Amino acid sequence: MSGFLGRGRGKVILLGEHSVVYGRPALAAGLERGVRATASSAEEDAMALTPWDVRVTPAQDDAPLGRALFAALSLYAERGAPAALDVEVGLPGGAGLGCSAAIGVAVIEALDGRYGVARTASERGAVSLAWEKVFHGSPSGVDNAVAAVGGVVRFVRGEGVTPVAFGRPLPLVVAHSGTASSTKVVVDGVRDRWTADRPKMERIFDAIAGLVDAAEKALAAGDLEALGARMNDNQRELEAMGVSTPALEALVGDAREAGALGAKLTGAGGGGCMVALAADAAAAARIEARLSTRASMTFTTTVGGSADRSDDAGDDR
Ligand code: PMV
Repeated sequence: MSGFLGRGRGKVILLGEHSVVYGRPALAAGLERGVRATASSAEEDAMALTPWDVRVTPAQDDAPLGRALFAALSLYAERGAPAALDVEVGLPGGAGLGCSAAIGVAVIEALDGRYGVARTASERGAVSLAWEKVFHGSPSGVDNAVAAVGGVVRFVRGEGVTPVAFGRPLPLVVAHSGTASSTKVVVDGVRDRWTADRPKMERIFDAIAGLVDAAEKALAAGDLEALGARMNDNQRELEAMGVSTPALEALVGDAREAGALGAKLTGAGGGGCMVALAADAAAAARIEARLSTRASMTFTTTVGGSADRSDDAGDDR
C-alpha cells in the first residue's frame, strides 16, 4: 500500500513495572514484533485497525481509540488535509506488552511522514505520551519510549531513556496467562494500596529500585544468572505489591522448573504475560515447550540477537 509508514515496537519490562510510576527506574526491552501504520490521503480523518476489524474517527468524547486519534492529530497544528491510517496490530492487547503505546508510536511516525514533520525516535516516544494518557491516565512513559527507541533501556519518569550496554544477547520467553488485564485498573489498584499504606509500598518500590540497579550491572557484565536472580526477586516484590495472579505464578513456576534463570510477570500484571530469561536458545526452546502446555500464547525472542520466532498466529514484525 502507498503512503507513509510508521512502526512501533512491543516491549517487555525486565524489571521495575509499577515502581517506575513512582519515580524509580525500570529496565525494558523493545521487541521485534509490534505495530505497523500507514498514513495516506483521504476524504476524512479515520483509523482502521486489523485484525481487530475496528474503524474509528477522531472524537473528543468517544471511545478511547477515537480520543487517542484526536490527541495524535492535535500534534499537527498546521496540517492541511485529512489522513487515513491503516494499522496492523501484531501484539495482543491487555497483555503487558505495550500494545497501545506501539500503536500510538506507529501512528505518529506515519503522520510525521504524511505531514513532513521531522522527529528523532526519542522525540516521537516523548510526544506519544499524549496518546498513552488516553488509555492509562497517568502513564510513566516507559511503554511509548521503548516502542519508539527499541533496544534495552533504563527509563526514569521525566528523564526518559538511556540505552543499556549488555554483554550477551538475552534469550527471552514470553507466555500469556490467558486473561487480558487493564493497565489502568491495575495501576489504580496500586495507587489505592499506596494511599492506604505508603510506608509499605515505598519500601517495595525502593527494594525494586535496588534490584534494577543490580540487574543493570549484571546486564553490562553479561551475567545472565545474576540478572535472572534479580528478576525472581522482582517477582516476589510484585506479589507483595498485589499485582500478580495465580495463573501468572503457575507460569513463573513452570518456567523456573524448566530451567529459566529468572521469571516474572511483565507489564501491569493482573493477567497478561510473564517473561522468562533463558541461558541460551536451546534452554529457551525447552522453557517455551513447557510453558506452551499452560499458556494461551508463547513466543521466544532474543534481544540483541536474531529476531523473534513465534508459535502463535501473529506474524513477527
Ligand atoms: O501493561 P503495560 O504494557 O501497559 O505496562 C504498564 C507498565 C506500568 O509500569 C505498570 C505502568 C506505567 O505507566 O509505567
